[in-house]
Amino acid sequence: MKLVRTIKELRTELNTYRNEGRKIGLVPTMGALHAGHASLVKRSVSENDATVVSVFVNPTQFNDKNDLAKYPRDLDADCQLLQEVGATFVFAPAVEEMYPEPDTRQFSFAPLDSVMEGAFRPGHFNGVAQIVTKLFDAVQPDNAYFGEKDFQQLAIIRKMVKQLGYTLHIVGCPIVREADGLALSSRNARLSDEERKIALNISQTLFKSRTFAADHSLQDTIKFVEDSISAINGLRLEYFQIVDGNTLQPVENWHESDYIVGCITVFCGEVRLIDNIKYKEN
Ligand code: PAF
Repeated sequence: MKLVRTIKELRTELNTYRNEGRKIGLVPTMGALHAGHASLVKRSVSENDATVVSVFVNPTQFNDKNDLAKYPRDLDADCQLLQEVGATFVFAPAVEEMYPEPDTRQFSFAPLDSVMEGAFRPGHFNGVAQIVTKLFDAVQPDNAYFGEKDFQQLAIIRKMVKQLGYTLHIVGCPIVREADGLALSSRNARLSDEERKIALNISQTLFKSRTFAADHSLQDTIKFVEDSISAINGLRLEYFQIVDGNTLQPVENWHESDYIVGCITVFCGEVRLIDNIKYKEN
């Protein structure tokens, strides 16, 4: 495995693979890697001849400076994990490498980007699109791997690929959870032991809501989740929405779509955690 810091060096390395018609997989990350990332990398390793894992905490997707400053960073630990799971290249550029000058591009992924994370983190998806397009251009992968935990991000990246005419294939990979159900997230590293126990209520509530949903209305299911989270000391619900899995627009009843997903964002102390659950899948 090789650590690469510049786009030029990365292109030179990858040209060898491309010229021989070998497949390149990209796993974009912001580091602080965990078993969820490892599952993306393993999938890429099994489906490509070379796997590039980018490790870059992208400043343009943080609308909260405090969140950016506190985002966990540990490149040595990341490289160790990536070596173990068989990555070929770790691309860890400096901010100046990816943004030699301010990126003024404005994207619109309406209506996908105006709801949920888009509404609560203005500019977030524009920043994600800025960095992901730069990574796609630098790596020119055949396949790129994204986790379903960031459900809205995955939908937006699929739309972006269509909008901009990229020919690569986007592979969505299932959420990886701890044995007790907590969705893996780099942000979990910021939870105290006590907060970690409290945070478990997020996934548990979602799982219970799926049983509840079997014989209750969609509106009652929303109330069930809202009330359950509000009843727990140490959790603050930002939003819970039940949406069409393709359009991300709220649905009014269980018959409105054959792909229905509940998306939640909760603050546990200062740490903002997201999760989602599928009620219906097509
Ligand atoms: O999901 C993430 O970690 C980031 O949003 C991504 C896709 C690596 C872009 O910075």
